[in-house]
Amino acid sequence: MGQTTSNLFYLVTIICFILALRFLSSPTTARRGNWIGAIGMAIAIVVTLAHSGMHIGWRIPVGAAIGSVFGLVGARRVKMTAMPQMVALFNGVGGGAAALVSLSEFHNMAPEPGHLHGDVIVAVVASALIGAVSFAGSLIAFAKLQELIGGRPITYPGQKFGNGLLIAGVLAAGIAMIAGSEAQWLMVVVLVGASIFGVLFVLPIGGADMPVVISLLNAFTGLAASATGFELGSNVLIVSGALVGASGTLLTLMMGKAMNRSIGNVLFGAFGQVQAGAGAAAVEGTVRSVNAEDVAIMLAYAQNVVIVPGYGMAVAQAQHAVRELADELEKKNVNVQYAIHPVAGRMPGHMNVLLAEANVPYDALKEMDEINPEFPQTDVVLVIGANDVVNPAARNDPGSPIYGMPILNVDAAAQTIVMKRSMATGFAGIDNPLFVLPGTAMLFGDAKASVLKLVSAVKAL
Ligand code: TAP
Repeated sequence: MGQTTSNLFYLVTIICFILALRFLSSPTTARRGNWIGAIGMAIAIVVTLAHSGMHIGWRIPVGAAIGSVFGLVGARRVKMTAMPQMVALFNGVGGGAAALVSLSEFHNMAPEPGHLHGDVIVAVVASALIGAVSFAGSLIAFAKLQELIGGRPITYPGQKFGNGLLIAGVLAAGIAMIAGSEAQWLMVVVLVGASIFGVLFVLPIGGADMPVVISLLNAFTGLAASATGFELGSNVLIVSGALVGASGTLLTLMMGKAMNRSIGNVLFGAFGQVQAGAGAAAVEGTVRSVNAEDVAIMLAYAQNVVIVPGYGMAVAQAQHAVRELADELEKKNVNVQYAIHPVAGRMPGHMNVLLAEANVPYDALKEMDEINPEFPQTDVVLVIGANDVVNPAARNDPGSPIYGMPILNVDAAAQTIVMKRSMATGFAGIDNPLFVLPGTAMLFGDAKASVLKLVSAVKAL
């Protein structure tokens, strides 16, 4: 295949990727976005193989086939709650691939003096360094989320200084390469040093902050891939890497904003290391517990009900039962809406994906800014496995670690029913004064079991 024809196809790939990102930004079109992205990727692979013709040999198709089998089996088997670690693993592999391409380019080009200067060597160093950080960091993120290593932040004295020194050494080796040194050991210093930095950089970050870190590492992988595009003279890689870099950066910033935390605080704050909530006001008051039958009566005779799903709904896999409950209530002319907090659960769009899986109509899902003004007119709020995203301390208690984080103002509703198994805290590890407010009652138990009880009780009315 000629250069012009393949460039034309690559343009189609790039357009597919841009459209995919556009469609992925809404739950109604996300599935289509995924397909368009996959088609774009398939075009890029086929065109690259066709363009390279016979030079490619058998190794690349065999490698691609093995990778595809792993990807397919992994994606089909993974549980929804384990999705963040799978993304981490896939992302790490991308970073590692970029670093390996740099290693090979440096190795192949070094014997030809003069080839390693100018922009190519800058790209080789950048993709080796960023790719290796992303690879090693993503593996640690995976291990933390998979609980292969403890999720708590691991810190030690002089950590920041040590990390600073290490990255300075790696940069010095990279600069020496850019300045013209063709010594192979410099490449080893960059790759090994950057990998160690990736490990040390992610270890001090708490397991629950990993989705933000993964999104940042994803942006790194995009940049590394883009730099690899400069090495290989591949426009499609430059543009698609830049798209991943930009979208990963935006996602990281949006997640930080929704948790009211700066990215610096996520990366260097070792959240969860100190006694969480040490400065927060103690929560005192009486907890009122109710049974499913009483809640069913409240729900069935209400006009407006808002369901607030959270991480516990994902753990219990209660989404189908929740949909069934909403159907039963709607049969009784109750208006049911869902309030979606931007960081409910453990990954962006977590609740949207689960509810979409249970065929909840998209127009029933309301974002935080849209639903908050409606809580004063709401008769019953059903909080299903959510905790931090409905914690009024974020609004009222300047000593709380989550002070300033925008929350769903469920305490403005006439009645709030909180469904969880115990009085245990959520991700932020802090008590929730909502649980002792006079308008709140707790329905204790596993979310799925409790919702199913509500379904039968509502049906029986
Ligand atoms: P959380 O505050 O983590 O609370 C979840 C609650 O679910 C827990 O208190 C737990 O209480 C309950 N639960 C767990 N398993 C359950 C089960 N089987 N049945 C019933 N309840 C169950 O969740 P949230 O309100 O969704 O907030 C998310 C948190 O994660 C926020 O702090 C957010 O900043 C953080 N975070 C989110 C993201 C993204 S992108 N979504 C990324 C990083 C961090 P019991 O143990 O008593 O049942």
